[in-house]
Amino acid sequence: MTVPNAASATRVPPPAPLGMLAELTHRCPLSCPYCSNPVDLDKRSTELDTETWKRVFSEAAAMGVLHLHLSGGEPTARKDIVELTAHAVKVGLYTNLITSGIGVTREKLQELADAGLDHVQLSIQDALPDNADRIAGLKGAHEKKRVLAAHVLDLGLPLTINAVIHRANIENIEALVHMALEFGARRVEVAHSQYYGWALENRNMLMPTREQVMTAAETVERLRAQLQGKLVIDAVVPDYYARRPKPCVGGWGKQSLNVTPQGKVLPCHAAETISHLQFDYVTEKSLSEIWTNGSAFEAYRGTSWMKEPCTSCPRKEIDFGGCRCQALAITGDPANADPACSLSPFHAKITSLALKAAQSGRDEYVYRSFGGVDGKPKVQITRS
Ligand code: SF4
Ligand code: FES
Repeated sequence: MTVPNAASATRVPPPAPLGMLAELTHRCPLSCPYCSNPVDLDKRSTELDTETWKRVFSEAAAMGVLHLHLSGGEPTARKDIVELTAHAVKVGLYTNLITSGIGVTREKLQELADAGLDHVQLSIQDALPDNADRIAGLKGAHEKKRVLAAHVLDLGLPLTINAVIHRANIENIEALVHMALEFGARRVEVAHSQYYGWALENRNMLMPTREQVMTAAETVERLRAQLQGKLVIDAVVPDYYARRPKPCVGGWGKQSLNVTPQGKVLPCHAAETISHLQFDYVTEKSLSEIWTNGSAFEAYRGTSWMKEPCTSCPRKEIDFGGCRCQALAITGDPANADPACSLSPFHAKITSLALKAAQSGRDEYVYRSFGGVDGKPKVQITRS
């Protein structure tokens, strides 16, 4: 495995990140099998306390972060969500609540709006309620989301719908987009599942076929043209069927950072899978110090850590070699080009993995749970 960047005393400090994802808690009423949280979830007893989160938000604002994504798990599972939101607003951060919509009452939403919350991003699992509930692992979840969306509109908050796409809902993309419109959303994110965390565990259940992906892409393009001016459609393409990788997290240590429930600061949500990296905690160092000098951020920042074919590639400042975590998961070395790239010597491997996974006869999800990999509940589902 390649040794990552060595720290340099003379380098120019990196520009401030644009956004911070605050994973306030890993607790969540849903159990989606595509969840990008780590398989070993942080327990409630290890979560940062209110004052520490508030300090972290102040530090983020002071260093130039603009957008704060209040996420989880389900962020409203925190009793102090209103206090945290109010503090983030006070220090000048744009606040985006990323919610499952479950357990969020009208009163709570009103309090959040009064605290100055700027935006709500609501996840939906499918346009068909039964299938949506089955994917989420909770009966009645879909209907609760519909109710929440109505409250969001009522309170005048802008709404984005996020739909993670996979084999069990890819045929329903058109209905999902129309549902977002019906919910009153201004944007919908049609995001193909990314295979990290729980999604990697469930890859054989989630992977669509190439034909399904191609049809879905055509559908999205048609809907974009039809709904122009009414709804913005953001699409995240599926890596396993791509020819060029995405610039994961906008480039490692370039635009964003994640803080886990227990205060570990990560360059991306799956960074902990890269076992040789050492992560710093907000309880031990300032956010600015971690961002600027933390060894995990330095490891794959910029391009000097790259190997061929990336080193001599004209796209290396565009996609930064793709995703480090995917390179590790599939090639064994995070410094390799993302195998989603057709120039990677491992590209055939990702293509064959996609083919095998899409044809897998597996018929049960490993639902996200605090049991981790060994305690995972398996639930039979009906394909739709
Ligand atoms: Fe991106 Fe590397 Fe592929 Fe070039 S070779 S397109 S830099 S992943
Ligand atoms: Fe870690 Fe892409 S998820 S770099």
